[in-house]
Amino acid sequence: MSIARDGQKKGGWKTDAPVFTIRANVARMKFSPTLAMNERVGRARGEGRDILHMGFGESPFPVHPLIREALAEHADKNMYLPAAGLEPLRAAALGYFADKFGFDASGFSAVVGPGSKALIYALQAAVEGDLLHPVPSWVSYAPQAGLLADAVVPVRTRLADRLHLTASSLDEAVTNAQREGRHPTKLILNYPNNPSGLALKAERLKDIAAVCREHGLLVISDEIYGLVTYAEDHVSIARFYPEGTIVTTGLSKHLSLGGYRLGVALVPPNGKAVLDAVRRIASETWSCAPAPIQYAAVKAFERDPRLEAHIAACTRIHSLVSRFVRDAVVEMGVEYPELDGAFYCFPDFGVFRKKLEAQGVTTSERLAEHLLEKAGVATLPGTAFGDEPGNLTLRLSACDFDGEAALAWHAEHPDAGSEAFVRGCCPNVARACERLGEYFRE
Ligand SMILES: Cc1ncc(COP(=O)(O)O)c(C=O)c1O
Repeated sequence: MSIARDGQKKGGWKTDAPVFTIRANVARMKFSPTLAMNERVGRARGEGRDILHMGFGESPFPVHPLIREALAEHADKNMYLPAAGLEPLRAAALGYFADKFGFDASGFSAVVGPGSKALIYALQAAVEGDLLHPVPSWVSYAPQAGLLADAVVPVRTRLADRLHLTASSLDEAVTNAQREGRHPTKLILNYPNNPSGLALKAERLKDIAAVCREHGLLVISDEIYGLVTYAEDHVSIARFYPEGTIVTTGLSKHLSLGGYRLGVALVPPNGKAVLDAVRRIASETWSCAPAPIQYAAVKAFERDPRLEAHIAACTRIHSLVSRFVRDAVVEMGVEYPELDGAFYCFPDFGVFRKKLEAQGVTTSERLAEHLLEKAGVATLPGTAFGDEPGNLTLRLSACDFDGEAALAWHAEHPDAGSEAFVRGCCPNVARACERLGEYFRE
């Protein structure tokens, strides 16, 4: 169909220009709530409003000089690369992550793409069936399934289970869905988790693996925060269910390289058909992840001690700042477990329901709006993560600080605790917590 342009009126459109109808499942989609909130905060700050940002999860540290140098060195790489990615990068990423995530990657292959988000979409697109979706979960999994017109089967979680599914809740969800004539084949897990900051530990993963094996599920295991863990080392479900797990990860979180758009999927030997499908999808959509970035990314997997020390320092800072936020929430009288990783928490402010209802706040969306209007604190409502509208949950992210200053402060005060650290170099995080306290106590 061609677009009718009125050549007579400069740049004007004919009133009878064709109307393009958006596909129903795309029309239902919203703009990603995290990106929408970030743009909104940018505009409000541009207008001079003093907004404290707990609504976006972008690790604020600068690009490490070794990565910057590697990228400059490969600025001349202007050719297309294989759709699955540069071979040395695929091999290096596979060895590195399997080792860090504690599983045996014999026979596994890696696919590289423009961010793990695109790879998760390609994996969902490649494999038939409905998506088992723990609630709360990261904002993009369900909309991606919606784009593909796949059904989403929510699996509710409880704070007592650290906001993760259990083997029995998974088993029940699969059985019920099958009884209703649905066909759940894919499960998305994410640990350490966005939005909760809580991880699935080895014992629980082992039990979940047994249920997955029984039902023949494909686990898309989103381990993008696997190197942002605070106390225990991260363990992948691929250790317990290698034959059915595809691990996705990348450089965005532990190296603060979200804008580099470099993601990896680690696929077991019996997932060859899925790997081929993802390659074909890549070949007809993004072609390849950007070549200079792929060449530079090899550096990220060389285990250079300077980079490893940088990752350790950034992770420690995330732990100090995130724990400060979690502790502030607990101090307000809201129950929340100790955090395991990433840079978020997902508290339920239901203890203030009566007080909030008196102000007309009965949903998480209204709560997030009200907080932004009244207290100048940006957050994301629980609904963005699949929670029921009436639950007064918010995702609070702990990233509104200057990463470069924080690294310098940390180098000078390596033993500082959470309180001293945040008061010392993260004024916006401290102020945001104060404003939250005032808002809820008022
Ligand atoms: C849980 C989770 N998975 C995946 C992604 C996407 O990461 P990438 O930059 O690799 O696309 C994010 C980014 O915010 C995330 O929080």
